[in-house]
Amino acid sequence: MNLVLFGPPGSGKGTQAERLRNQLQLRHISTGDLLREAVAQKSELGKKVESVLASGQLVSDDIVLALMRDAILAVKKDAALSGWLLDGFPRTLGQAKGLDALLAETVETIDAIFVLDATREAVIERLSGRRTCTQCKTVYHVKYNPSRTEGVCDRCGGKVVQREDDRPETIAKRLDVYESQTRPILAHYEGRVNIHRIDGDLPVDEVTVAIGNAVTR
Ligand code: AP5
Repeated sequence: MNLVLFGPPGSGKGTQAERLRNQLQLRHISTGDLLREAVAQKSELGKKVESVLASGQLVSDDIVLALMRDAILAVKKDAALSGWLLDGFPRTLGQAKGLDALLAETVETIDAIFVLDATREAVIERLSGRRTCTQCKTVYHVKYNPSRTEGVCDRCGGKVVQREDDRPETIAKRLDVYESQTRPILAHYEGRVNIHRIDGDLPVDEVTVAIGNAVTR
C-alpha cells in the first residue's frame, strides 16, 4: 500500500505518519526529515539546502526528486515493508510529474492521498510551540504535549529543541508557499487517485481514527 499525507505545515503529517507506519508496515518517507538530516551531517547536499530550509522556501525539484528516487527504490527492495507513506512530497507540479514518471518505472501507484485540512490559526499555534528531539525526532508541543523535563527527550534522553524554521516569520512564509505552490497540485490527482479530506483541526487521536477508517473502507 502506498499512501501520501498532504497538508499545510503543522497540519499533523509527521505525527500521523509515525502512527500509521507501524500499523501498516509502511516506510515513512519525509522529505523534510531527509533534508534536515543532510544539514545536520553537514554533507554537500546539507550545505546546499541549509539556507533554503531556514528561509521557508522550497528546495529545488531536481534535488528532492533524486532523494525520493533513492528512498522509493529502497522500499521496493525491502520485503518486510508493504509500501511507503510520503510526508511532505510532492509539493510542486514538477515533483508530482516526476513521481508519476518514477512510479511508471517501478510499476506502482498511489493508493490514497490524505489531505489534512487545518486552519491557519491552528497551525501557527502548533508550529510556534513545537519542539523536536535532535536524536530520535520525537515531536513535542510546549503546551499540549511537553517533554517531562524541559529540553530533554522522554524517549531517548536527546536534546529537545525548536526547529530553525518554526519561528514566526518563517512559519508565515511556509504557509504562503503551501497555498501558492503546493495546495494547487491536488488538481493533478483529482479523478485519478482516491483523495480523502480529513479535518486536521481535530485532536490527534480523532485524526488517526478518521484516516484508519478511510484506509479500511
Ligand atoms: P517539512 O519538514 O516537510 O515541514 P512541513 O511540511 O512544513 O510540515 P511540518 O513538519 O512543519 O508539520 P507536520 O504537518 O508534519 O506537523 P507535525 O505532525 O510535526 O519541510 C520543511 C522544509 O523542508 C520546507 O519548508 C522546505 O524548505 C523543505 N522541503 C521539505 N519537503 C520538500 C519538498 N518536497 N520540496 C521542496 N522542499 C521541501 O505537527 C506539528 C505540531 O502540532 C507538533 O507539535 C504536534 O505535536 C502538534 N499536532 C499535530 N497534530 C495535532 C492535532 N491534531 N492537534 C493538536 N496538535 C497537533
